[in-house]
Amino acid sequence: MVDTASAPASKVDVEGITAHIAADPYIRGLREGTVDLSWFRAEPGQGVWGSWGVKAQPSRRGLTLMDIDKASGEEPGPIGPSVTAPRGGGLDPEAGQTPWEINSKWELWAENLTSLYEESCSRQWNATADIEWRNLEPLPPDMERALCQFCTFLTMAEYLATDVLAPWLPKFNTYFHEIKLFIASQAMDEARHTEVFRKRIFANGGGMGMAIKLGEALAAIQPYVDASGKVANDTGSPLASNALFDNWRDVSYCIHVVFEGAVLSIFRYGEFLCNTDVDKQIFRMVMQDEARHVAYGSMHLKYLLENAPDPDLQRIQIHEIADMAEIFFLQLFFLQPATIESCAILAGHGVDGIAKGIESYKTLYSKMRGEYLSRIAAAGLDRSDRCLFPAELPF
Ligand SMILES: [Fe+2]
Ligand SMILES: [Fe+2]
Repeated sequence: MVDTASAPASKVDVEGITAHIAADPYIRGLREGTVDLSWFRAEPGQGVWGSWGVKAQPSRRGLTLMDIDKASGEEPGPIGPSVTAPRGGGLDPEAGQTPWEINSKWELWAENLTSLYEESCSRQWNATADIEWRNLEPLPPDMERALCQFCTFLTMAEYLATDVLAPWLPKFNTYFHEIKLFIASQAMDEARHTEVFRKRIFANGGGMGMAIKLGEALAAIQPYVDASGKVANDTGSPLASNALFDNWRDVSYCIHVVFEGAVLSIFRYGEFLCNTDVDKQIFRMVMQDEARHVAYGSMHLKYLLENAPDPDLQRIQIHEIADMAEIFFLQLFFLQPATIESCAILAGHGVDGIAKGIESYKTLYSKMRGEYLSRIAAAGLDRSDRCLFPAELPF
């Protein structure tokens, strides 16, 4: 029970607030039996009420967002209005303006965005029950140690995507619900990835390995960046305050295209590296989610380059951000000693096979680079003679 005698007196004037509400003309009318009903009587489509008479038909998978767009005719236009309203909604005549930060379709759209969100919902899985944890087999101690270090690294990488992307949710105009829903679903995907790698670390006799040093990866950019101010600050903290993440275009390029493109290659490599069915299953499951995140990023890049009002400037600026992102993720991922060595032990089937494993790791890297370059080329960005991922790892 709360000790009211020692609790500080409330500064809130509850009685005053109640009296203020009660004095409102509409509330007074309700007490007297009068109702408003202006929204109810408004003619659909004339501003106050949105639409009426729409009866969307479920398609093969069920009732999708594509089905309701088709039935309602509420496909997104090029600009979202400066109000807080669902697309197609009417407005309270007294509603104020909302200055959303991201209002243009070209700034956020991808032709596959709506269907990617639907896919995300239908392919959610459960790290507790959908992995055959009971079938996990013991690994030789050096292999378990290497896999736990690799999973520790991946656990941290998963935080990065959510920590950078989720704060952008309130910046998108509510008119473009698709991007809000998709990024929310991605945050859930990344949470599940952190969860599944954490569970794997503690499920087979191993334990949590060494955390990677993010600050060093940030500092690695410094010597390569000119004095234009596009410099990473070496705070050692998550990247949210970094110059790499000034706007959604840059965020999406860095995270969805460079970072998650690399993660997707690493997950595919993880499936190849693992010798047990359960470990392979984990990498297969995370891979299907990751492919969606990369698919959004690639298709958004394409949409942006094709639809921005200033495509030439966009292209120049994306190249600049790509320069930094490639160096940053090269350092963060592919040159981390504990990551190189843990992967090499797994690929070499033990610490004695590490030399052979390092060759395999270099092949993974070259594959990742090739996949990245073809992905962005398909989106309309050619970095074949500018890419700062070296063609081969120099060791
Ligand atoms: Fe992930
Ligand atoms: Fe992801």
